[in-house]
Amino acid sequence: MNRRTFLATSGALAATPSLAPRLLAASAPAATPKAPPAPAAPKLSPRFGDGRDWWFDRRFGMFAHWGLYAIDGWHEQDQWRRRIPRADYVKLAQRWNPVKFNPDAWLDAAEGAGMKYICLTTKHHDGFCLFESKHTRYHSVNTPYGKDVVRQLADACHRRAFPLCLYYSIADWHHPNYPNQGRHHELPPQAGDDPSLPKYLEFLKAQVRELCTNYGEIHGFWWDMNVDKHVDRSINATIRQLQPKAVINDRGFDEGDFGTPERDFTKEGALSPSFEKRTEACQSIGMESWGWRNDEDYYADRHIFRSIARYLARDANYLLNVGPKPDGTLPAEALGFLRRTGAWYHRVKEALDGARPCSHLTANRDVLLTRRGNSLYVILQAEPKGDAVKLKPLAQLPRRATLLNTGAPLPCSLDPVPSEHGDQGRYLRLTKLPVNEQANTVLVAKLEFDQLPEVLGPAKESGASIR
Ligand code: GLC
Repeated sequence: MNRRTFLATSGALAATPSLAPRLLAASAPAATPKAPPAPAAPKLSPRFGDGRDWWFDRRFGMFAHWGLYAIDGWHEQDQWRRRIPRADYVKLAQRWNPVKFNPDAWLDAAEGAGMKYICLTTKHHDGFCLFESKHTRYHSVNTPYGKDVVRQLADACHRRAFPLCLYYSIADWHHPNYPNQGRHHELPPQAGDDPSLPKYLEFLKAQVRELCTNYGEIHGFWWDMNVDKHVDRSINATIRQLQPKAVINDRGFDEGDFGTPERDFTKEGALSPSFEKRTEACQSIGMESWGWRNDEDYYADRHIFRSIARYLARDANYLLNVGPKPDGTLPAEALGFLRRTGAWYHRVKEALDGARPCSHLTANRDVLLTRRGNSLYVILQAEPKGDAVKLKPLAQLPRRATLLNTGAPLPCSLDPVPSEHGDQGRYLRLTKLPVNEQANTVLVAKLEFDQLPEVLGPAKESGASIR
C-alpha cells in the first residue's frame, strides 16, 4: 500500500473530509518507500459507569506510609528484613505519640502539589493499626497518643470533599493467626503463633467492616501483599456493598478494579501508548523506602516528574508516596518535593489531567502526546537529546505553540531537515527548547491547531513556520 492508498483508506480522512484533498495532494512520489500502517489510537480503559468514576476525574493522588517504623526512622519492612522479634518490635507502640499530626497540613501539601485524593496505610505489614479496632489492641488509640489517626484524616478529608482511600496489608507480622510460613514478606514462626487462614480471614473481614462503616464515605480500598494469592470474592463484595464509590486495587482477594505497577520495577506496558487495564501507578519519593527513614536517598525531581507524566499521559492514575515523621509532620524533603512537584504540575497539568492519550500521531517514542479538542500536547518523556523535537509524520503547523513550563511561545516549523531527506517530507519540528535552562524538569509543549485530524499526513506547503 503506498502513502496515497494509506491516507485514502484511513478512517481519519472520512472523519475530516475538508482535509482530505490537501493531504492526498501531498503524497510523495511513487518511489517513496511504503508507509507503515497507521497506528491505532490508544484505547481508553473502561469507565465504571457508577460512583467509582470519581477516580477518572482525580488522577493524581498522595500515598502516605505511616506507622511504628517511623519512630526510629526505620525502613517500613525492617521488622521482617532485620528479623526483629515480634516481642521487641511491639514495644514501639508504647512510644507512638505523633503530637504534631495535623491532617489538614498533609492535605494542604497534597493539594498544593496538584493531588486530588489520598491513600493512607491503615495497617502495614507490621500489623499496627492506625485505627481503633475491636479485634486487636495493637492500634493507635491504645498508645500514649490515644487517638484514631484514620478518624482524624477521614474527618479532614470529608470537610474538604477530598477522597480518602485505605491501604490495608494482608501480610501481618503481628497477628498470631496470620498463616506465616516464612515466605517473602512473612516472619519466621514466632512464639505464640497459631497460623490459621480461616481464623485470620475472620479477623481481616471484621476489620474491613470496621474500616468501611466507621469513617463515613471511603473512596478506595488498597490491598497489599496477599502472599499466598488466596482468592475470596466475598471480601471485595462486602467493600462494594458498604462503600459503592470505593475503587479496589488488584492486590487483594480478586482482580479488583485496577492494576498497580510499582516504582520503575514494572516493565509490563512501560512503552505501550495506553493500558488495557485500568491502572494506578505508585512511586515513593524515597528511593529505598515508603515510610520516613533516617538517611533516606531521594529521587531527582525530574525522575519523578517523568514517571508521573508517563502514566497520566496514558489514561492512568498516579499515587506519589511520602512518609510522615514520627511527630506527625511531613519531612522537609517531602514538603520540598511536593512544592516543586506542584510548581511543575500546575503549569503543565492541562496536558496530563483529563487529556486523551494520542501518542499514535507520531513515531517519535521520546515523547508522549495527548490531546484536548484541537490542542495537542507534547511531553518530553525521555532525556532530551537536543533542543529540537521532530514529530514525524505530523505535518501540520499549529496556529500557536507554547511551552507550558514557562508560558513562552515556542518556534516550530515544517522545514525539511537533513536527516529526513529519505522521503523528502516536511514534518513538524519544535525548536529552541530550553533544555539546558530547564534541566531538572519535564518539558511540555501545547500546540493549538485550527483543526486537528486523527491522523496527519505529510505537508504539501514548503517552508512554513511560526516563530
Ligand atoms: C511494596 C512494599 C510495601 C509498600 C508497597 C507499596 O509492596 O512491600 O512496603 O507498602 O510496595 O506499593
